[in-house]
Amino acid sequence: MNPRELIERKKRGAALTEGEIAAVVADFAAGRIPDYQMAALLMAIWFRGLSRAESAALLRAMIASGRTLDLRDIPGPKIDKHSTGGVGDKISLPLAGVAAACGLRVPMVSGRGLGHTGGTLDKLESIPGYRTQFGEAAFRDTLRRVGATIVGQSDDLVPADRELYALRDVTATVDCIPLIAASILSKKFAAGVEGVVLDIKVGSGAFMRDLEPARALAALLVDLGHEYGRRVAVLFTRMEEPLGEAVGNAIEVVESVAVLRGAGPPDVRTLVLELAAEMLVLGGLAGDLATGRSAAARALSSGAALETFARMVAAHGGRLAIEHPSCGLELAPVVARLAAPRDAFLEGVDGWEIGMALVDLGGGRQRKEAAIDPAVGLRWRVRVGQRCQAGDVVAEVLARPGQDTSAVLHRLGAAVAWGDEAPAPPALVLDRLPFRAAAV
Ligand code: URA
Repeated sequence: MNPRELIERKKRGAALTEGEIAAVVADFAAGRIPDYQMAALLMAIWFRGLSRAESAALLRAMIASGRTLDLRDIPGPKIDKHSTGGVGDKISLPLAGVAAACGLRVPMVSGRGLGHTGGTLDKLESIPGYRTQFGEAAFRDTLRRVGATIVGQSDDLVPADRELYALRDVTATVDCIPLIAASILSKKFAAGVEGVVLDIKVGSGAFMRDLEPARALAALLVDLGHEYGRRVAVLFTRMEEPLGEAVGNAIEVVESVAVLRGAGPPDVRTLVLELAAEMLVLGGLAGDLATGRSAAARALSSGAALETFARMVAAHGGRLAIEHPSCGLELAPVVARLAAPRDAFLEGVDGWEIGMALVDLGGGRQRKEAAIDPAVGLRWRVRVGQRCQAGDVVAEVLARPGQDTSAVLHRLGAAVAWGDEAPAPPALVLDRLPFRAAAV
């Protein structure tokens, strides 16, 4: 296999064979193909695309680049959830507790926040002691004993994705549907899940702003999942205003615990129930979504989901005082407020700007290796469609003493639109692609 030849053929729109894709991925992961050739191939793929067969070959090649976990000896359906990323998206935390309390096994390999979106690992690491790097034995043991474990990607799980993603990040080739699909699914399937529910976010606070490309991504994810013999379901959910009130790291853990207590913001609770129901159907523990939702709601009201989450945190070494309102976590003490400028309805919110305001505060990162401050954050107080009076608090900024919050408040102020007419209430779940049992 000559990389130059493959670049040339893909540049002209020709299809690559399974063997060529396998060789190029293996050679790149092993350092035998330089970044400049792989970057050229990625850009040719960005322009020319990959067929379904080529995408499936890429998924298989990426999985084959590292170790794969076989979790079949652990009883119970192994089902995960993946979100394409949003603002205030802490769903994985309460959802892991709910799904495991309902009998699923949830082996979650999560990522860090990048750009305007938050990351589950950063949120969990705001809990003192929580270890996100687990060896396989601890991963299996926690999954077996507690039912859920949330860890970071290990070095040997899909190493090709780590290398390819880093290269895509700096060559403007991330936003390519076949590359995204193979990247997401390779990590899930290598980690041994039998099924995955994908929460594809759509809107100003998501990587995909419109439903049309989100549908194309979803269709490919479902096809590739089925071809690989795994179950896949998709929810398309709105991501404009933040999910819930809390945006940050420690502050999102606190809100997650509130949801696990049966309280918390209604949109977070609703999405947890919807995703849990999909996971339960996928895992064969519920015959339909209504039964799944009821089981998930019972896990919240009985306290079983909170107990499961607390046991998972403890298994990871985390110290979380769930009985305290702030869970014993440090929150930045200075509160600056954004007020409504006039009597009006909140008409719309630019989620990307809100996510970037958190980055400006130090709670998110622009570069992969950057450090974050887990204690800073935002409380988003007003929902789209709500009427405010001049001076009502729209958002609170939690900052460190001495930190200048004026630019952050200005950014937040510019991210909201006000109107005199009540806008139609936006739907949270925009659409879904249910699991097609026949394809398994
Ligand atoms: N998330 C991933 O894991 N991979 C991508 O390519 C994009 C989002």
